[in-house]
Amino acid sequence: MMNLSPETLQKIEQVIPHYPVKRSAVLPLLHFVQEERGFISDEAIEWIAAKLEIQPVNVYELVTFYPMLRRKPIGRRHIRVCRTLSCALMGGYRTCAEFQRQFNTGLGGISPDGEVTVEFVECLASCGTAPVVMIDDELHEKVDAARARALAQEIRAAARPEGAR
Ligand code: FES
Repeated sequence: MMNLSPETLQKIEQVIPHYPVKRSAVLPLLHFVQEERGFISDEAIEWIAAKLEIQPVNVYELVTFYPMLRRKPIGRRHIRVCRTLSCALMGGYRTCAEFQRQFNTGLGGISPDGEVTVEFVECLASCGTAPVVMIDDELHEKVDAARARALAQEIRAAARPEGAR
């Protein structure tokens, strides 16, 4: 049994009737669950399948098809660095390397302090202010290595003490 928040459950209940066939709601449901949990677990796949009266394998296929759906947990903060042309030319790779160095983490993993996951993404549609970084839902422009260090510091400062979550 998934313990989703009442807000997420409400969104799920609201979106299902918008589709003529229940099973078509599978993508929005996956997004809602990922929004809350950060990733799609086996349990989530089973739960969504039961909810929409389809086979878990049908849900699983979608999860593996769409790169934005993730199967593994991520850090509390999600740092996404654009690596498309403008950003790459303006130093996006150095920016990404700096974030990884700051948090002592590789790409896609969770930093040892549990604080962040650093990843590359494709164009974030702000090419004129490259290199561009999304931290959770917030866009940061012209993030060179120095700015990445400053942002890393802000993230650490905002980190809640262990146990306070
Ligand atoms: S290339 Fe990075 S935002 Fe477009």
